[in-house]
Amino acid sequence: MTTAPIHGSAGAADARLVVLVSGSGSNLQALLDACADPAYGARVVAVGADRNGTFGAERAAKAGVPAFVHRVKDYPTRDAWDEALTRTVASYAPDLIVSAGFLKLCGPRFLGAFPGRYINTHNSLLPAFPGMNGPGEALAAGVKLAGATLFICDSGVDTGPIVAQCAVPVEDDDTVETLTERIKEAERAQLVTAVGRMVRDGWKVEDRRVRLG
Ligand code: GRF
Repeated sequence: MTTAPIHGSAGAADARLVVLVSGSGSNLQALLDACADPAYGARVVAVGADRNGTFGAERAAKAGVPAFVHRVKDYPTRDAWDEALTRTVASYAPDLIVSAGFLKLCGPRFLGAFPGRYINTHNSLLPAFPGMNGPGEALAAGVKLAGATLFICDSGVDTGPIVAQCAVPVEDDDTVETLTERIKEAERAQLVTAVGRMVRDGWKVEDRRVRLG
């Protein structure tokens, strides 16, 4: 799969980001802060959530960004939820969609509508420790390096082509909380850098390999 480069600089319109969240939204905040610099080349045009009352939605309101909620339980089927989410996200004409702590797997309609343009940040060094408890599983496995992975979503759980990875040390006295926080700090910086490069320079996906620029 090859994705045409997106140009968001030198007079062209900023790239349009839709960010999906389920919780605190610190990764969303990092993107909102980065987008305040016109040289970054992107702006967050909408924030979506799968539940009411997320701190991410509050962050969106504070930044003057529209927010929407689609809860799976409000739809008769998972497919109907997927369809509604796809329609709403598409209405914002996004160049890139960022899952930043969004605790739902999107379905075939969503993935088909935004091929190669839906990315997720995960708090482990994939392919190790996919799923909901990356830092806890890293600690339990006794690894000495943990980290975060930004990848292009496919239909699997944390299986898509990798855009960027960063590592942090696991300290002897780490708890799940301290390791999670260390990972999150590195993860936010990575997300901002990689999304900036994607929107300014474009990206290509060939087989499993993602090339920026
Ligand atoms: C991130 O560490 C992400 O990898 C994980 O959930 C966290 C979301 O954090 N899936 P936040 O909501 O952006 O603060």
